[in-house]
Amino acid sequence: MKITKAVIPAAGLGTRVLPATKSMPKEMLPIVDKPAIQYIVEEAVASGITDILIITNRGKGLIEDHFDRAPELEARLSDSHPMHDEMLRISRMANIYFIRQKETRGLGHAVHCARSFVGNEPFAVLYGDDVIIGDDPACGQLIRAYERFGKGILGVKEVPPDTISRYSSLKVEPICENYFHCTDMVEKPAPDQVLSLYSVLGRCVLPPEIFDILAQTPPGAGGEIQLTDAMRTLAQSTGMVAVDFTGTRYDMGNKLGILQATVEIALRHPQVGEDFREYLKGFVKNL
Ligand code: UTP
Repeated sequence: MKITKAVIPAAGLGTRVLPATKSMPKEMLPIVDKPAIQYIVEEAVASGITDILIITNRGKGLIEDHFDRAPELEARLSDSHPMHDEMLRISRMANIYFIRQKETRGLGHAVHCARSFVGNEPFAVLYGDDVIIGDDPACGQLIRAYERFGKGILGVKEVPPDTISRYSSLKVEPICENYFHCTDMVEKPAPDQVLSLYSVLGRCVLPPEIFDILAQTPPGAGGEIQLTDAMRTLAQSTGMVAVDFTGTRYDMGNKLGILQATVEIALRHPQVGEDFREYLKGFVKNL
């Protein structure tokens, strides 16, 4: 079945980026001139997704406004202004729906809120604070893997050993190319629980069976309903496939990740990239 639906959980509290996220959703923090969540929606659309459900909560209304029409701006910008068409394009990229996660009970609980939107189809999940930049959209790489293997797909990368305790850790066996069988995983592993340095980083494609599993999943690490715990049940029963995707992933959920995204994407920006490079060279000399 062709995958056309995606879910973007964006209802986290963003406590690692306070005070910026006290009233501003972290998904709306700009990387140069675009909010993080626009990069994510663009990746989904470039991957063939037509319908997107964004999971929000109180105080995230700005995200809805961003993907809505902006009649005053459209009227103010002349037809020839480069941003005139861009304003329209943003509001027409996909069918975008919103639902509120009424309590912040974890990523697994947020994904469960998408049950009636998804119905009985496989769907993509793009975490709202993970921006991935690359020539081949990461979500599309996972969708191709689903078409090839017909199982739940995990977007993975190896993380440094001293950081694995902050992520998930996967038990993997190579299949071919950048594909691996995954039969087990653990969220935020203690040192003696580490299965490998491969971790799920911000993208997966899931079969609808995940919803029954999520409904039965008790709170795990941090007292939250963890998507990893539900995917573990799936990995142990039907097995899942991990894809070591190409592209650079930026963690917009922490301050260093935001700075890395800003610097690297600014250097490639068609308008400001060259001037920013010159500025940085001069600045670095004086460090
Ligand atoms: P994170 O754990 O990175 O986000 O969740 P957070 O809870 O905002 O992080 P802190 O407060 O800085 O530690 C990963 C993704 O899951 C979403 C987040 O918005 C993020 O995109 N999420 C998390 C939800 O939608 N609901 C939740 O209850 C928890």
